[in-house]
Amino acid sequence: MKFFVDTADVKEIRELNDLGLLDGVTTNPSLILKSGRDIKEVTKEICDIVDGPVSAEVTATEYAEIMREADVLSKIADNICIKLPLTLDGLKACKALTGDGRQTNVTLCFSANQALLAAKAGATFISPFIGRLDDMGFDGVELIAEIRHIYDNYGFETEILAASIRTPDHVKRVALIGADVATVPPATLKALVKHPLTDKGLEQFLADWAKTGQKIG
Ligand code: E4P
Repeated sequence: MKFFVDTADVKEIRELNDLGLLDGVTTNPSLILKSGRDIKEVTKEICDIVDGPVSAEVTATEYAEIMREADVLSKIADNICIKLPLTLDGLKACKALTGDGRQTNVTLCFSANQALLAAKAGATFISPFIGRLDDMGFDGVELIAEIRHIYDNYGFETEILAASIRTPDHVKRVALIGADVATVPPATLKALVKHPLTDKGLEQFLADWAKTGQKIG
């Protein structure tokens, strides 16, 4: 399973990349707003840090304008993945861009039928939003299971990128189902390492080691 980090915070991205934990990055207009940076400038900096795909989202809604923005974003770096809305114009652009050999991430997916359309359009990634479905009283993880089933039925190569992840439990559940990628906020990604018994066990080992009076090397 691949880990993408869902942020435009360059400091966080650099730290996670240095740990060797990152396979890519996802951004969106809200995350660019939060960064307070110019989209082209910050996206270029992110692309220079991470080798894997960096999703940059178009903000146009009409096909021709989506294609124009996609062209501008594609020129930022070779590892740009164009993020497109799950609309008819977005799907049309997805088909055209993947036909041109570009990486695409179809975003704002909330149903299995939408994911089916994105796969038909040749999307590199489909981004179902788990947390936002949970917020509405649905089980977002169940959508990942449905999409996995449908994609496996037909051998679609579109990768399932579980998005809007809020908790370590979300990560575990989508991994059990077989999501190809999880895009996770930095704090949640770091929280995956935590277990109280690991902390307690380490504390005990270090205390006992100190009592031996030994040193390794
Ligand atoms: C995915 O690509 C989106 O950027 C993101 O996961 C949305 O998460 P949110 O619902 O926490 O805003």
